[in-house]
Order: sequence, then C-alpha cells, then structure tokens
Amino acid sequence: MTASIRKSLPLPGERTLHVEILLLLLPKTTICVTGPSAVRRLNDSEILRGARPASCYPSHEVSSAGAVDLSVKIGALRLRNPILAASGTFGYGLEFAHLVDLNRLGGFVTKGLSREPIEGAPAPRLYPTPSGMLNAVGLENVGVRAFVAEKLPVLRNFDTAVIANVFGYTIEDYVEVIRVLEDAEGLVGYELNVSCPNVKTGGMLFGSDPTCVAEVVSAARHAASKRPLWVKLSPLVTNIGLIARAAAEAGADALTVANTYPAMAIDFRSGKSRLGNPTGGLSGPAIKPITLRLVWETTKAVKTPIIGLGGVETVEDVLDYLAVGASAVQVGTASFADPRASELLVDTLTTVLGRTKAFALNEIRDKFQAENG
Ligand SMILES: Cc1cc2nc3c(=O)[nH]c(=O)nc-3n(C[C@H](O)[C@H](O)[C@H](O)COP(=O)(O)O)c2cc1C
Repeated sequence: MTASIRKSLPLPGERTLHVEILLLLLPKTTICVTGPSAVRRLNDSEILRGARPASCYPSHEVSSAGAVDLSVKIGALRLRNPILAASGTFGYGLEFAHLVDLNRLGGFVTKGLSREPIEGAPAPRLYPTPSGMLNAVGLENVGVRAFVAEKLPVLRNFDTAVIANVFGYTIEDYVEVIRVLEDAEGLVGYELNVSCPNVKTGGMLFGSDPTCVAEVVSAARHAASKRPLWVKLSPLVTNIGLIARAAAEAGADALTVANTYPAMAIDFRSGKSRLGNPTGGLSGPAIKPITLRLVWETTKAVKTPIIGLGGVETVEDVLDYLAVGASAVQVGTASFADPRASELLVDTLTTVLGRTKAFALNEIRDKFQAENG
C-alpha cells in the first residue's frame, strides 16, 4: 500500500512549501519553494554586532526550528545543521551577512586562502551553461594574513562554524597557510583544497595522485594540531576510493566530495573561450548525478565522515547526498542564483522534518541500497 501526504505550508515572505510525501519504502519528498524573499539590508555596524535580517526570522519559524534537532557530527565537530555554504561561492561570509543569517547555517567554508594574495583570472570569470555554470576565478583571495587581520575579527561576532579553505602550489605553501591560521581564533576547522596544480611535479594536480595526496595531507595534519582537517577531493580521478583512502590514512578528519569538473565553453565564431581563461570548472545541478556517485564510491572506501557537494539546490538534493552516506552537504552555485539559498534550505529542512515528522535525519543517512537497482 502506498499512502501519500500532500501539504501546502505557508512560509515567510509569501512563499509556499508544497510537500508530497509518498510513504512506504523510502519516503519520496517533492519540495518546491516559491515567492519573493525580500530582506532588509543591514548596515555595517549591525553586521559587526552579528545582527541578522529581521525577515529571516519570523517568529513561527524560530519556534519550529527550536523543536527540531538538525545537528550533525562530523568527527569531533558538532554542527547546528547539515547545510554549509561552499568555498568560493560565499566569499569570506561577511559579504553575505546583510542578506543571510549566518547564525542559522551549519557553517560556511571561506574562499580558498593562499600564502600570498592572488589577483585571480581575467574577466569574464563566469559563464552559464545548461543546468550549471563554468567559472575561472583563478583562486583570487586576499591572502591568509589579511584574512586573519581583517576578516576573522568580524567573523568572530557570529555564532556560526567557519571553516578555512586552504590551498597552495607546494606542500610548504599549505603548511605555511595553516601555520598562520593556527595562531588565530574564530575557526572550527580547515578544508584542504587538493585540486591545485603541484608546481614541483610539473603542474599535476595534487589531488589526482594518492602519493601526492598522502604527502600534502600528512604535512597539513602535522601543522594543524588544534583543529579538524577536512580534505576536499578532486572529482577528476579514475578511482576516488584510492584517493580517499590515502587522505584518510594520512590523517583527514573528513572528506569533502567534490570540487568542480574541468570543462570549457567556446564561441566558434570568434574562436575564443567564453571565459578569460581557456578552461574553467563546471558546477551546479548538471554535476549532481556525477558527484552523487563519487560520494557513494567514497563511502564504500572509507569510514571517514563525508561532506557532499555538487548541484545542491533543494532539500531533495540534500537528502540524496545523506542517503548515499554523506554527513552534511555544502551549497555552492545555488548561492549565485539566490544568496539566501543555504539559509532557505535550513528553513525548508526544518519545516519538512518539524511539521510533517515523516522521518528524522538519521533515518535517511546511508538509506541507499545498491540492490534497489
Ligand atoms: C565561482 C566559484 C569559485 C570557487 N572557488 C573555490 C575555492 O576557492 N576553493 C574550493 O575548494 N572550491 C571552490 N569552488 C568549488 C565549490 O566550492 C564547489 O566544490 C563546486 O562549485 C561544486 O558545488 P556546486 O555545484 O554546489 O557549486 C568554487 C566554485 C565556484 C562556482
């Protein structure tokens, strides 16, 4: 027998949540949020005090949020909920603070930080593709010292988990960035981006060779004595299980799966790239099915907690990643379409789990069974 629940729940800002849950087997949830999301901009001093936009917090949601436990554990780290904003799509968090209530997110990952500031790639840096987006930002960032001096003191006013994304072109670069961050307060962990070219091995990606991954993770692990170390894997590998095992054995506390896919878009008329660089990284809904499989392959290879990301837009996407074994997800490209995407996912997840009470998060985790076909 298949029972079905259909509900239309009012949400703030004239949005409506349409939920259809087919009970029996794995509940299938169809969710769609419509309507405007008007928010008042906060001024700088409000942001400094950690204030949040009033319209993000209608009173009925605060009470339902309080009743639902969405917290997740990633190794020793407990997060308020499983929704984090992804590196490179959420700046240093502060740029979003006037629109998004940072305190409601599970956390966010900073733009990738390097030893020295990087200016980045020439424009255009973004190009829309079917169900996705290409980017070639060139890892622009203010450099780790400016991050610690200028961004972290402001971020400390917020009650959210800040994870610093770290990259380098040599192992020494990675170690130096972590060394500078270790002395600073206000972070809960590091995420190592190993999808960067290793200049010492002729530009080969660190993340595509298990030996390279083991070396960089092990060096970072020794440098990161105070905080958990997540390792963000490259999707451009033949066997992600091998890479995941290398990272886990070298001391990774969690694995983030995965980064963007190298891709290109050209204009045949001009014979030029659509981006300032010849190639870029593909992200958004187009990559979700590919990355979902990578997450599943990774869960089969290691016991280390996994954070899934790639094309997360809806609560259904979140639950899909959890069902193949992820402990949490990150939201990237969706924040370009709507800067509040990650917070809205927290709202919707809270509403779905709190009001329908159809299932709890831990009932979804690892739910996927390969025999289903
Ligand atoms: C514009 C842009 C910049 C990014 N910068 C970084 C970065 O600095 N470090 C990193 O590890 N990942 C970076 N990423 C990758 C994202 O964090 C994420 O892994 C990827 O976009 C897939 O998730 P999505 O489909 O939800 O966007 C960037 C992605 C985009 C779109």
